[in-house]
Amino acid sequence: MTRTLPRTSEPAVGKPIDRVDGTAKTTGAARFAAEHPYPGLAHAALVHATISRGRITAIDTTEAAAIPGVVTVLTHHNAPALKPPRKVSPLDLSTMASGTSVAYLNTDEVHWDGQPVAVVVAETLTAAREAAALVKVVYAPMRSTVDFLAEEPNARPQKGNLLMSGSAKKGDAEAALATAPVRVEGRFTTPPHHHNAIEPHATTAVWDGDRLTVHDATQSIDWLRSHLALRFDVPAEGVRVIAPFVGGGFGGKAMIWPGTILTVMAARATGRPVRLLLTREGVYRTVGGRTPSTQRVALGARTDGRLTALVHTSVTYTGRVGGSPEQVTSQSKHVYDAENILVRQNLVELDLISNTSMRAPGDAMGTFALEAAIDELAYELGMDPIELRMRNEPERNPIDGRRFANRNLREAYRLGAERFGWADRTPEPGSMRDGRWLVGMGVATAFHPAWQFLANVTVRLSVDGTVLVRCGFQEMGMGGATAQAQIAADALGVPVESVRVEYGDSTLPLSPAAGGSMQTASVASSVLAACQKLRRKLAKLGPPGETPAAVLARAGVPSLEASVGSDSRLGRLTGQARFLAKLLRDQRRWMRAASGAQFCEVRVDPDTGETRVSRWTAAFDVGRVINAKTAVSQLRGGIVMGIGMALSEETLVDPRTGRIMNPGLGEYHVPVHADIPPIDVAYLDEPDPTMPLGLIGVGEVGITGVAGAIANAVHHATGRRIRDLPITLDKLL
Ligand code: MOS
Repeated sequence: MTRTLPRTSEPAVGKPIDRVDGTAKTTGAARFAAEHPYPGLAHAALVHATISRGRITAIDTTEAAAIPGVVTVLTHHNAPALKPPRKVSPLDLSTMASGTSVAYLNTDEVHWDGQPVAVVVAETLTAAREAAALVKVVYAPMRSTVDFLAEEPNARPQKGNLLMSGSAKKGDAEAALATAPVRVEGRFTTPPHHHNAIEPHATTAVWDGDRLTVHDATQSIDWLRSHLALRFDVPAEGVRVIAPFVGGGFGGKAMIWPGTILTVMAARATGRPVRLLLTREGVYRTVGGRTPSTQRVALGARTDGRLTALVHTSVTYTGRVGGSPEQVTSQSKHVYDAENILVRQNLVELDLISNTSMRAPGDAMGTFALEAAIDELAYELGMDPIELRMRNEPERNPIDGRRFANRNLREAYRLGAERFGWADRTPEPGSMRDGRWLVGMGVATAFHPAWQFLANVTVRLSVDGTVLVRCGFQEMGMGGATAQAQIAADALGVPVESVRVEYGDSTLPLSPAAGGSMQTASVASSVLAACQKLRRKLAKLGPPGETPAAVLARAGVPSLEASVGSDSRLGRLTGQARFLAKLLRDQRRWMRAASGAQFCEVRVDPDTGETRVSRWTAAFDVGRVINAKTAVSQLRGGIVMGIGMALSEETLVDPRTGRIMNPGLGEYHVPVHADIPPIDVAYLDEPDPTMPLGLIGVGEVGITGVAGAIANAVHHATGRRIRDLPITLDKLL
């Protein structure tokens, strides 16, 4: 595509280029949502409900209001009105944005333990938090349903959505299972998990008449803008969301949670700029996390290892006031070429905060159970677990025979096994030792579907040689701006240093939310299209010059611009409709996904049950890699998060009250540096032929398969199959 222009620089795509915003972040120059100073800024603190369901019968704010510096205490008696969220519609994805359906501070109803029931606004953060602790609330509790395991028998079939079905089948898997020569079957459980991004959720809100400016830690600038306009009944054109820097999201900042709404409400009520920085506990009480799951995996095989039956079913929860049904069994439709497949997802509704997406929703949990069961089958068969996987590697998408857009899992296994040294493993459990440590090696498949959504982009080339790419996408630390600069540089044949990318602001062209591992591919597709347009315009100005800027100079044109998509109401609607049609067409034609092979070595102390991960190697098929540094960091980060999921992370919900009992990093254990070994990440760099630039996402596939690989390694070390996460030492004694 860049052939008609002479190259003025080496290609940037694929290089391990440093983040363009790295200096701003490491020097503290980058401002996050709670770091914007405004004259007259007031601070907010939330008061949380302490029952899981019922009504507020009395609320006493006298003592709180008497704290020096308190500006106001908002409750359902005096809070400004809030419009209800809209019904979810595929034609307007922003309708999916509401974390819950609750009319915060507009109702006396309580729907979960932790729901904000009052907001204190004060001159200082200290005063706001002190006063919040003094608000006295009396409740009339009602019967609530909060015990996930007790509710499991009442689970109902889960409905499908636009992207995924709630259940699917091929043949008669249960019948095939019953007659299979070799079979394994297990019940697996995963606990609730909570979001612990390094930046807790934060909002700064400023009203000017009906115009609103919001700095927010969000993964979805455009959704937030539409949603706030709707809830506060003001024109969307007057709402500006600014979020150039977000300190990690992982799905926890994709939806809009009460803190954001209530900050905007507090600013409206007080007529002052208001900032709310959630405490870590505040994040646990007001932001959804990953649902717990119970899963059944049953596998039937012939003695040669060929799968005849694969059954994978799940139960998860959504909140009674919102949440997104988890696609736990999704990967079981795509990973193994079983003759008969049955996947089914079931749901219960609980009076807890709505669940939400958390890195690789569905697949992170589903691959734990599926991959542990495959390992178990390998032992039943007396076969190497990689060999078993290779014997069941499909040519076409197992559930429906669609073609794979890309599928290089065999190569990923070959590469990973060699780098890891899989051949040195002796298969017998407990057969490898290092001093007092039992050593185990485990392997598992990583899998995550790849999507692409609508993005609007403008690219401008100036006579001074600089290029400006504008798109309102979100940057949460993954290096989005760096990747797009690399893509634009190559598409225009200019050095990457001359490209500047503007992002993180709703005044820029519309971008999809950063989620589902699809932001980079979505934006890249439009950046490429805009660059192509720009080059056609450039060609009309005159013959190719030494550089694109030289063509402009000769023609006496100061700058040239090209756009993809339109931000007008009509433009957005037609864009969305066109895109949905393409999405559905694509889905019928291809199965597109990122995949990989996870290898780990663990050491288990036979006396204490302490488990340490001592080595990790992963080899991924993630299409073309745009930036060798940021992509590997993303994949490595996913593996770190998976190690937490496997060994320590667990949100403890009191089954009697629905109250989260460990709302903070002191008692919810995320991995620390000492828990993480060197992580060797390799990738095939094989472009997906159906995607612009061959690029698919790297955000989520990294966590998938991790818990399975660890459970398999623990079995290899100890002979114990632990099917309930996290694998804590008590389960090994
Ligand atoms: Mo992600 S869980 O799609 O932010």
